[in-house]
Amino acid sequence: MKSFIYSIPKAELHIHIEGTLEPELMFEIAQRNDIKLPYNSVESARKAYNFQNLQSFLDIYYAGASALLYEQDFYDLTWAYLQRAANQNVRHVEIFFDPQTHTQRGVSFETVFNSIHQALQDGHQHLGISSKLILCFLRHLSAEAAMETLQQAKPFQDRIVAVGLDSSELGNPPSKFKEVFDKARSEGFLSIAHAGEEGPPEYIWEAIDLLKVSRIDHGVRCIEDPQLVQYLVDKQIPLTVCPLSNVKLRVFNSIAEHNLKQLIDLGLCATVNSDDPAYFGGYIAENIAVAQAGLNLSQDDIYKLVKNSFQASFLSAAEKQNFITDLDRFMAQVS
Ligand code: HPA
Ligand code: ZN
Repeated sequence: MKSFIYSIPKAELHIHIEGTLEPELMFEIAQRNDIKLPYNSVESARKAYNFQNLQSFLDIYYAGASALLYEQDFYDLTWAYLQRAANQNVRHVEIFFDPQTHTQRGVSFETVFNSIHQALQDGHQHLGISSKLILCFLRHLSAEAAMETLQQAKPFQDRIVAVGLDSSELGNPPSKFKEVFDKARSEGFLSIAHAGEEGPPEYIWEAIDLLKVSRIDHGVRCIEDPQLVQYLVDKQIPLTVCPLSNVKLRVFNSIAEHNLKQLIDLGLCATVNSDDPAYFGGYIAENIAVAQAGLNLSQDDIYKLVKNSFQASFLSAAEKQNFITDLDRFMAQVS
């Protein structure tokens, strides 16, 4: 089962590039940039990764990202992630980046964008991983700040497929960003949003009704609203579920209590993703493996999850079909 999980071709749709910063690379980059980190060693950083909720994680995540200043830093970060992804047979990835985390510190949008994009192009050429970029707005900041960020993205628009919404969910409902998302969609961006991670099902409704999202990041609290579940099933609006994240941030007390299996059995288009793997203890294959063991998932459940990951992507219909044909070929070989 373990080798099946690692080798099955898969797509990753919910990964914050800043959340892939492993402590070893964080220290290396901080040292060359002369940045002081709030830890004195890699081990003490890892020890501090013990979270009570989303906010306690975000505080540490933004502190880690403060080491990133130059194009080389963002390139190294993205390249390190792509190598790990390739080792787990990730064939396609849709990467989130948080420009405001960096522009707030005086790093230009262009520096962040160009370096991540260059690494993705190299990832395609040398590792065979196809990719798309998604710009996330920080929802704890104002709608005006998000609008300004959208403006900064204009010169790079042809290389950004969608806008998203992340950071502190409670108290920052999707409705706060309706105008920004209206503008983004009118300019041709697709949209997604984190909703129903810590926030209530109403936030998922808002993301659908007001932000017109193509998929929901997390969305696990949909289960509290049967009408919403029915809607998500009927429209096959995908959920990008992140099991290790949900346990580390105490959305669920343990993996055995996670509702992923229930979501699959209800017919939702659920996918498994790693969110912030450097902080939550595992990349996509570890997320699938932990969920498999904790929820007793079958090979067929895992096939469904990875097939959903290609279906739920922003690839064209023909590209999706190519990946799914490869997936079915893989399945035929292992059965
Ligand atoms: N939720 C909200 N914001 C985030 C997350 C998350 O899981 N990871 C990085 N930013
Ligand atoms: Zn996330």
